[in-house]
Amino acid sequence: MSQRHRASWARVPVPDCSAGRKLTPMCGIVGYVGGQNALDVVIAGLKRLEYRGYDSAGVAVLADGSLAAAKKAGKLANLEKELADRPLPTGTTGIGHTRWATHGAPNDANAHPHLDNAGRVAVVHNGIIENFAELRSELTDRGHELLSETDTEVVSHLLAEAYSSAGDLAEAMRQVCRRLEGAFTLVAVDADAPDVVVGARRNSPLVVGVGDGENFLASDVAAFIAHTRDAIELGQDQVVELRREGVTVTGFDGELGDVREYHIDWDASAAEKAGYDYFMLKEIAEQPKAVADTLLGRIDANGRLVLDEVRIPAYVLREIDKIVIVACGTAFHAGMIAKYAIEHWTRVPCEIELASEFRYRDPILDPRTLVIAISQSGETMDTLMALRHAREQGSRVLAICNTNGSTIPRESDAVLYTHAGPEVAVASTKAFLTQLVACYLVALYLGQVRGTKWGDEIVSLVRELSDIAKQVEQVLGTMEPVRELARSLKDKNTVLFLGRHVGYPVALEGALKLKELAYMHAEGFAAGELKHGPIALIEDDLPVVVVVPSPRGRSVLHDKIVSNIQEIRARGARTIVIAEEGDEAVAPYADHLIRIPATPTLLQPLVATVPLQVFACELATARGNEVDQPRNLAKSVTVE
Ligand code: M6R
Repeated sequence: MSQRHRASWARVPVPDCSAGRKLTPMCGIVGYVGGQNALDVVIAGLKRLEYRGYDSAGVAVLADGSLAAAKKAGKLANLEKELADRPLPTGTTGIGHTRWATHGAPNDANAHPHLDNAGRVAVVHNGIIENFAELRSELTDRGHELLSETDTEVVSHLLAEAYSSAGDLAEAMRQVCRRLEGAFTLVAVDADAPDVVVGARRNSPLVVGVGDGENFLASDVAAFIAHTRDAIELGQDQVVELRREGVTVTGFDGELGDVREYHIDWDASAAEKAGYDYFMLKEIAEQPKAVADTLLGRIDANGRLVLDEVRIPAYVLREIDKIVIVACGTAFHAGMIAKYAIEHWTRVPCEIELASEFRYRDPILDPRTLVIAISQSGETMDTLMALRHAREQGSRVLAICNTNGSTIPRESDAVLYTHAGPEVAVASTKAFLTQLVACYLVALYLGQVRGTKWGDEIVSLVRELSDIAKQVEQVLGTMEPVRELARSLKDKNTVLFLGRHVGYPVALEGALKLKELAYMHAEGFAAGELKHGPIALIEDDLPVVVVVPSPRGRSVLHDKIVSNIQEIRARGARTIVIAEEGDEAVAPYADHLIRIPATPTLLQPLVATVPLQVFACELATARGNEVDQPRNLAKSVTVE
């Protein structure tokens, strides 16, 4: 490769939090230059990014010295139909976009790409240009006609102007970026600059795929994984110029930029449905492997943990006096479970907080606080802002993340990657289980480093953790009655979920899955809270899922939940009980009994969550819902 970029991995300074206050919509972006039909490459890439947004889609290609574009409201399938009816000329340079609308209705006019008035420049964008109103009126005064309600369109007009004086598309992009306020990823082509694609990023993801005689730009490596597994992670405020023969990365000031090259450790087949009807079904089925992969290489021959990635020195970990976990959605539920394990195994006080609430309440943080940020995508804006806030207060941040090269690990002091492989379905499944595994590893590692657990205790806990993959496999083999039950409940309006101890976050996770996929009223409660209000919701034949802790070990928890089951059943609830094999005490009170293998109490969420994922997926299917792309949602929530 003849790239002029410098490969280095500089410690990222704590960014100015005010920059992240800007709203950044999701959206998927693809750019290509090479020897293939650009439209085919771009459309295939957009299909892999549709999880990021599916309100509208569009493409632009350069062919024979001119630019051709097409865009359509709705899913990518609408654009494909449009392209079949009105084909674009064939070219080898192109860009594409799939949108999750925040500003401007999801119609054809607001779909990307946006062109300048001469139809020579096309721009796709992920983000908000905050000073667009001022730029728009400036452009209008100079005679430009803007045709959409978007902020993006100002960029295509400004870029066309800048190119006419600079004569170089990357320089034009740098000039424009210096004028923009907000958060953005921009990718553009100009008919007068054939075989060139330029991109820019600030607070929004953009990665480069490095091929042989071809190069790619995308919001996520999944878009180009079928062509190359070599990638370059761009830094903040950088512009990239893509040509067939190489990639040049500079800062907005024109100085050569620092970047990091990396190899993607999964291949294109990992991002395919592999014969499953939905990505979610495939991802549920992949959980045993994902769990095993996340443990791989992290346990030595003596059963001790080797977490070389945790680059926070042992003496710092020994001095930590508080742990704060920040996360959103499903990752938050993983964090809730982590709190039980961390406090039990390390005796360090641990708080778990919704990332979206964290920095607004002035949390008490200092250099002796370890903040753990959990995120599958590594791009969740709330979590990113929480970790930036923590670092500004001098705390160390450890990220638990599934996406190599994403912003959250890049801005953290250390990262423990989950090896779940790409998670495409919007509803998180295998990411959750691997987040749990990573949290258990961190908790045990802290116990090892701080000496709160004896070596043989760690060996035995690690062995139990290593057994979980086959227990998840076992659960997956017994799911037909769960699917049947889900289908029978398709006309219900409400399902409640109860749990105690680590079963409580599992109940919350079961409810979240059902809300987002089946669009049903679903709520999770700590079973002990029932009598403080929620029991009033119980009525005849109301389905209530109860996650029962093991009768071994903390049997008091078990006995209490058996009482809770009796209480709700006496009031007419239809009880759906998840209990470990051999737990006969619950059987008389279960209208439906779902068996899971016996595990240590703290590890039970790894097996108890699986039936709830299957239940939600099947109920959504029975109700005719889009399983992989539920309404109103997108996979990475890059808006605050
Ligand atoms: O990428 P992240 O793990 O940061 O995402 C956090 C949540 O947005 C995510 O878990 C969301 O709740 C899922 N759709 C739940 O299935």
